[in-house]
Amino acid sequence: MNTERTHPFGMAISGLDLAQITETQIGSLIETLAIHGVAVIKDQQISDGAFVKFLNRIGSLTFTQGEQSVEGCEALNIVTNANRKHPPRSVFHTDTSYVRLPPAFTALKMIHLPRRGGDTLFTNQYAAYERLSSELKTDLEHAEVLHVATGVALKPADESCHWHPLFRKHPITGLKSLFLTTPERCESIRNTTHLDGQKLIGTLYAHSIRPEYILRHRWSIGDIVIWDNRCTMHRADHSRVIGKRQLHRGLVLENQVISAQIANNLPFVGV
Ligand code: SIN
Repeated sequence: MNTERTHPFGMAISGLDLAQITETQIGSLIETLAIHGVAVIKDQQISDGAFVKFLNRIGSLTFTQGEQSVEGCEALNIVTNANRKHPPRSVFHTDTSYVRLPPAFTALKMIHLPRRGGDTLFTNQYAAYERLSSELKTDLEHAEVLHVATGVALKPADESCHWHPLFRKHPITGLKSLFLTTPERCESIRNTTHLDGQKLIGTLYAHSIRPEYILRHRWSIGDIVIWDNRCTMHRADHSRVIGKRQLHRGLVLENQVISAQIANNLPFVGV
């Protein structure tokens, strides 16, 4: 397995077959994600079933209500621009942050590479936290944001909102990050002296998506990209895409036993 830094944030991994990955390699991958946020695993030729099997070794899979599942593989959902009059809209966000336990990881497997465009962009939310002024860090230390679902077809019993800390300590690195999603899904903020919550959220979001925190991934056939939602936001770039773009997406919850093993440098034993 070879690794290459593609950006201050982000790692490209080659020479690894996810269908044959060992326990030690899974441990290193989870650690890499905690540190670098995003891993691009090159040259994979695995079936959806093998992809799900691999993801299950990282943690339990979860599914966003209202998404279209992959035929024959219910654990994955389809991300596509096919059969749409207008390109899909994508702004920087964190996946399904309106539930109590949002996915720790999101993984995308390229199925149809468009002839042009369709990159995925990531922000470094560790850097976004780190570069806040010390006044804001102090004032917002205990702030919480109400994340709400918008634009998704939920059933009445589905979770649709949850308060999360604005600053989250990563369970593996111990580093703090700025945990946000698109402002329209951040309904309010509490435990702050700031009077205008929406303005504050807008300012923090604009700060998070500054160009210096952004990593752009240009897809190739065979790419599987995984990212850690606890220290990133992401968006697809649908501008100027030519051709069909389709990916299969899996969402994985944190496994606290695995996080503790890695954080404490213990031998990795998957569960
Ligand atoms: C997503 O927002 O989860 C998908 C990103 C992409 O299509 O590149």
